[in-house]
Amino acid sequence: MKNFIENLPKAELHLHIEGTFEPELMFSIAKRNNIKIKYNSVQEIKAAYQFDCLQDFLDIYYQGASVLINEQDFYDLTYSYLQKCASQKVRHTEIMFDPQTHTERGVIFETVINGITRACNDAKEKLDVSSLLIMSYLRHLSEEDAFVTLKQSLPFKHLITAVGLDSSEKGNPPSKFKSVFEASIKEGYIPLAHAGEEGPPEYVWEALDILKIKRIDHGNNCLQDEALVKEVIKRDIALTVCPLSNTALQVVEDLKDHPLKKMMELGLKVTINSDDPAYFGGQVNQNYIEVQEALDLTKQDLYELAKNSFQYSLLDEASKQQYLEELDVYYVGKK
Ligand code: ADE
Ligand code: ZN
Repeated sequence: MKNFIENLPKAELHLHIEGTFEPELMFSIAKRNNIKIKYNSVQEIKAAYQFDCLQDFLDIYYQGASVLINEQDFYDLTYSYLQKCASQKVRHTEIMFDPQTHTERGVIFETVINGITRACNDAKEKLDVSSLLIMSYLRHLSEEDAFVTLKQSLPFKHLITAVGLDSSEKGNPPSKFKSVFEASIKEGYIPLAHAGEEGPPEYVWEALDILKIKRIDHGNNCLQDEALVKEVIKRDIALTVCPLSNTALQVVEDLKDHPLKKMMELGLKVTINSDDPAYFGGQVNQNYIEVQEALDLTKQDLYELAKNSFQYSLLDEASKQQYLEELDVYYVGKK
């Protein structure tokens, strides 16, 4: 199974670039930028990665991102992740970035997007991994703040495919961002959002009906509402599920209790993703491997999950077909 997973062509659809920041790279970038971080070693950093909930994690995640200053920092961060994609048979990835995490500290939007984009272009050419970008608004900040970010993004609109909504879910319902999502859609961005990770099913309804989202990030709490499950299926909207994130943030106590298999049985379209791999103990393949073991998933299940990852990506139809054919060639040989 491990070998089957490692060579399975797949896409990653839920990934925060700031969450790929490995401690080793964090130290080296901090050093070249003359920034002191509060940990003395990689071991000390890793030991600090014990979280009781999403907010616990976010506090550390924003601290880590604060050493990113120059375009080259964003390039190195992104290229390092894309190399991991290449080695895991991730053929395509949809990368979320949080501009406000950086612009709030005085790093300009252009620095962030240029570094990330240059890495994506190089990865396409040198590693044959395709990617696109999702600009995520931080929901703990105001809608007005999100509007500032939207405006800053416009000169780079051609480099961005979608908008997302992340950060502290509880107490920050999707409805808070109604107007900025409307404006983002008018600019041509595809609307996506985290919903139902820690928040209630009502937040998922709002994300669907008010923000008009085309994909749900996480969505675990959909299962608490039968009508919602039916609606998500009816609208053919996929869930980007992140098993190791869920256990790390105690959204799910044990992987054996993870709802992924139940979601599939109900007819929901599910994908497997790493969310913030540097913080949650595993890249995307590790997520596949551990969830396969915990839930006793079959090769057919894994094939369906990989198929969904291409099918529900934001790629154009021709590119989707190409990747799906590659997957089918692999699967038929390995069935
Ligand atoms: N930002 C980075 N990872 C996140 C997650 N899992 N939920 C919400 N916001 C995030
Ligand atoms: Zn996420």
